[in-house]
This record gives sequence, C-alpha cells and structure tokens, in this order.
Amino acid sequence: MKSRTAPVAFLRMLNSVYNKKQKPSTAGETTQSNKSWWKEGILYQIYLQSFKDTDGDGFGDLNGVVEKLDYLKSIGITMVWITPFLESPMVDNGYDVSDYKAIHPRYGTMEDFDRMIYGLHEREIKFVLDMVVNHSSDQHKWFKGASSSRDNEYYDYYHWWPAEKGEPPYRHSLFDPEGGWDYVEAVDAYYLHTFTGNQPDLNWENPKVRQEVYDIMKFWAEKGVDGFRMDAFQFVSKDTTWPEFPEGHEKDYVKWYGLRPELHGYLNEMYNKIIGKYNVFAVAEGTGSTFEDAHNLVDSDRNELQMAYHFDAVNLSQTPKGYSLLDFKGVFSKWDNAFSEKGWLAIYLSNHDNARLVSRFGNDSDDFRTVSTQLLNTFLMSMRGTPYLYYGDEIGMTNIDMPNIEEYTDIEAQGKYQSALKAGADMEEFINTLNYNSRENGRTPMQWDASENAGFTTGDPWRRVNPNYTEINVAKQKTDPNSVLSHFKRMTEVRKKNPVLVYGDYTLLLPEHEQVYAFARELDEDKILVLLNFSESESEIELVELQGLTSEKVVIDNYEGTAVEGTCITLRPYQAILFSLG
Ligand code: NOJ
Repeated sequence: MKSRTAPVAFLRMLNSVYNKKQKPSTAGETTQSNKSWWKEGILYQIYLQSFKDTDGDGFGDLNGVVEKLDYLKSIGITMVWITPFLESPMVDNGYDVSDYKAIHPRYGTMEDFDRMIYGLHEREIKFVLDMVVNHSSDQHKWFKGASSSRDNEYYDYYHWWPAEKGEPPYRHSLFDPEGGWDYVEAVDAYYLHTFTGNQPDLNWENPKVRQEVYDIMKFWAEKGVDGFRMDAFQFVSKDTTWPEFPEGHEKDYVKWYGLRPELHGYLNEMYNKIIGKYNVFAVAEGTGSTFEDAHNLVDSDRNELQMAYHFDAVNLSQTPKGYSLLDFKGVFSKWDNAFSEKGWLAIYLSNHDNARLVSRFGNDSDDFRTVSTQLLNTFLMSMRGTPYLYYGDEIGMTNIDMPNIEEYTDIEAQGKYQSALKAGADMEEFINTLNYNSRENGRTPMQWDASENAGFTTGDPWRRVNPNYTEINVAKQKTDPNSVLSHFKRMTEVRKKNPVLVYGDYTLLLPEHEQVYAFARELDEDKILVLLNFSESESEIELVELQGLTSEKVVIDNYEGTAVEGTCITLRPYQAILFSLG
C-alpha cells in the first residue's frame, strides 16, 4: 500500500511546489492559452442618444436598444458598450454625471435598463458600462457640498487651490480655453477641471473617493454589467503639487497631468474589490505616454485593468488632407509588436469622439463608399485585439456636412472654436477641418430606413439626420447581399470562426507598399493572409504566400471572382480579401 500511495503524494507535493514557484503564466498571454471572452468578443458601441427613439422625444433611449436587440444579434456582435445614460445636466452629453446610480429620464428607467441587459444576455451579448469617474458633474451632490464650504464632508472629493496661495499655476484644459482652474467664492478657492468647468476632477488620492467609485461599480456589477469602460482614465491620479509644465506640454499632457505611480495601487484595489470578484473586465480610455505605461495598466500579472485603447490611429487623418497608409501601418504594427507577448488592446478607428470611419479612413464618394467601408470593417476584425465597432459603421454612415459653427452644439467644438479665435487662427481653415474631424459627425441619428427621420424618431431628432439616409440605411442593405451590412455580418462570422484572427501572431508584409496593407496571422497550424487595397485604383502585388492559392482558399472577399496568378494578384479598388494558408 505504501508504495502505491507514495507516488501520488509525491506528485501532489511536486505539483504544489511547482504551482507555488510558477508565477501566473504571462508568456503567451496573447495566445489561446490565456483565453478570455472579452478578447474573443466583437464590441459594438452605441451612442444611445442617436440610436433609436421609442417615445418620440427626439432622443434615443434604452427601450430603443430593447427594440433593436434582434438586430444586434443578427449582425454578429457579442458585446455592447453604451455611452452614458445616467443622471446628468448634459453639458457633455452625459459625460458629466450627477447621480451614478440613477438613469436620466431622457433615456428611460431602471426597469428599462434591467430589461435591456436581460435581453442582451439572453442573446449572449455582454454589456459594458461607461464609467465616468475622472470627474463628476458640478451638479453632483458631492460637488454641491464641496463648493459650499471648506468644512464640507465632500470638500476633499475634488482638487482645490486655496486663493490665499495666490493664483494657481497654469493648467491646460481640454475643453475650456480659459484653462483648468475655476474660482468658487464660497470657499475662496479654485477647483480643477480637465474638461469643462462643469466637470470638476475627482480627487482619486482621497481613499473615500475610491471607495465611492468601487461602490458604484459594485452596484452595476450586481446588476449584471460585464465590463466597464473607464472614461478619461489617464487623468486620474495626479501630481497634486501642480508643477509648472515645460513649454509645449499640451502635446504630451498625459505625462504631466495624469497616470501617477500611485494609480497602480488604486487599480489593484479596484481589481480585488470588483474586477476579480465579479469576473468583469475594464478597459481604459488612453494608454499613457509610452508602451510601458500601457503595459503597466493592462498586463494580466499586474491585476489592474484588462484592456486599453490608444489614440495613435485616430490621431491620423485629422484634416481633409487625410493620412498616409505607411503611417497607418506603422501605428498598428508598432502597437501589435509591443503587445505581442503580453497585454491586450482594443482595435478601433471610430467612436463617439471621432468623425465617421469611412469619411476619414476610407472614401465616402458614391463610387467607393461601400467597398471602402467593407475594407475598413474587414481590417478591424482581422487584427489582434478586441475590435470596437461603432454604430452606423456597419452600414457605412458618413460625415454630415456642417460648414457653419452655429450648427455645432458640442462643447468640444465650441471650446476649440473659441481657442482658435483667441489664437488668431485662419478661421476658414479651422471650420473646414472641424467639418472634417468633428465628433458631431459621428453622432447623427442611426439610419434605419428611408422613412422620415430615417426611422430614428417620430418626433424632432435632437440632431439633424444625415440627408443621405434614403440611400444609406439598414432596411435597404438588409436584403442586398453586396451591401456593407451583409459583408459586416459575414465578417463577424469569419472572426468568430477563426481564433487565429483573435490570438494569432501578426506579421506585416510589403511594409513599403503605399496602397496595400498586407499581413499574415498565424496560430499553430492556422494561417490567414489579409490583403487590403487602401486605394481607389487597382494594385498588383506579388507575394510568395500567394503561390498555389485558389478560390477555395478565400475566406472572405468584398469582390467576386478574384484570381491568383502564380505569386501575383491584382487587387481591385478597396478590395479586402482573406485567404486561408493553413
Ligand atoms: C472622453 C469621452 O470619450 C468624451 O466623449 C468626453 O467628452 C470626455 N471624456 C469627458 O468625459
């Protein structure tokens, strides 16, 4: 007996020694050995106010999402992030929260929310909540209390510069041309705001504030939320000595204005109290200034956040001059490279802070809108990282022409306009650029059909509907097998069926090619070749990988009848084709 039990005990002992010695495995974090539903997911972002209005007030609402649940399922996405719908005075369309546990009546009720999340889960779609906790609204009870007296229990929930110390050191604000400090007479002090004066920054160095944040996250996690998108996250945790910054710091304000080392301790705290406990994930808006900053936020052995998104790609194509494909490839390749072993990124080219995907990165002319949107959607779903797709891009919605400043209602556009005026900028050029890159382009009502107001509302839409809705809409594209929508559905299927597209290694091919973005994805025996012609002319390319490929090897193609000749292929305008090399 003894001789039989001994080896088992020995193995157990070995196992326990081995397990103790082994740190949690991080090598190969980006491979299948470290799978996660949020890595495999396809996320769809909804700008709620513009998605679907069900009560005729001109604003999209939670019941609008409920109405479109089957649509969401039908397009193949598996995660939904909805922009803020909590109580708010709406200075920044909900990115100024005045009650973190209440739904803004414009969007519905808590029962509507419960129904929506139930309906999403029933369809195996996860839900991601937008957590806006770098700042609150100035109408939040915390700030109302804080700004009433220095003795108020909430005073230290915010950052203050007491007036007896004189004027505060200059602080750049992203939305306020007058800078980042505002004076409050009742407390004879200035408060800090990274965005508008109505969005005072919360003091994350105060443990009570952090407890409040975890309490809010707990509330929502217990309601079934699967993930959190941490708004403006690079700005939490600040150097509270408010040092003067070197000239030109606006170019790298994150380095000076946020991501203090203390943040990592706070995030461990958050992980232990919420993320790990409720098995949810969190994605940071922003990655800091370096790859190291980004890794320090998301590497799994750190137990902090799980994913982040950088701005390098959306910082391209900010003016009507567009962008160069070489820069575009450079950005995505360098980020993939830096995250090939550890960490995880979101992959996106559009969201509620950017103009429309096809108008900035594709070609929104009648001739090429369809194929170029298909190409961009193919690209987003062929890269390593979790694709973040934005409502309307599945049908190729475009920028809306707004050449007059009077039509802009967004606080960011107004702030930029005032700053440009103040700086004596060429205002004609300014407006042309704004018309091209303004985020208001990406916030127009969803184009459901060709009926009045694109089927978005029976009332007056809060924002003008893009007049091209009679041409570009869901109803029309649903029945057309060659539409952007039909292709989008095919591509979500391809992504889901091919783990190589999620976890596989990425190798850039033809790095110097100015029109074609070619790369390979490889995971064990599986290999996929991705060829994307980012131009409106044909491009012939030669690649050894093409040798012997026939039409049976095509995984998806936005054209028909593509032929390979030896090692050459001629790609048609904005052609996007994937071949299986496995
Ligand atoms: C980032 C959000 O994405 C943006 O829409 C908002 O205006 C700012 N943070 C302020 O919350």
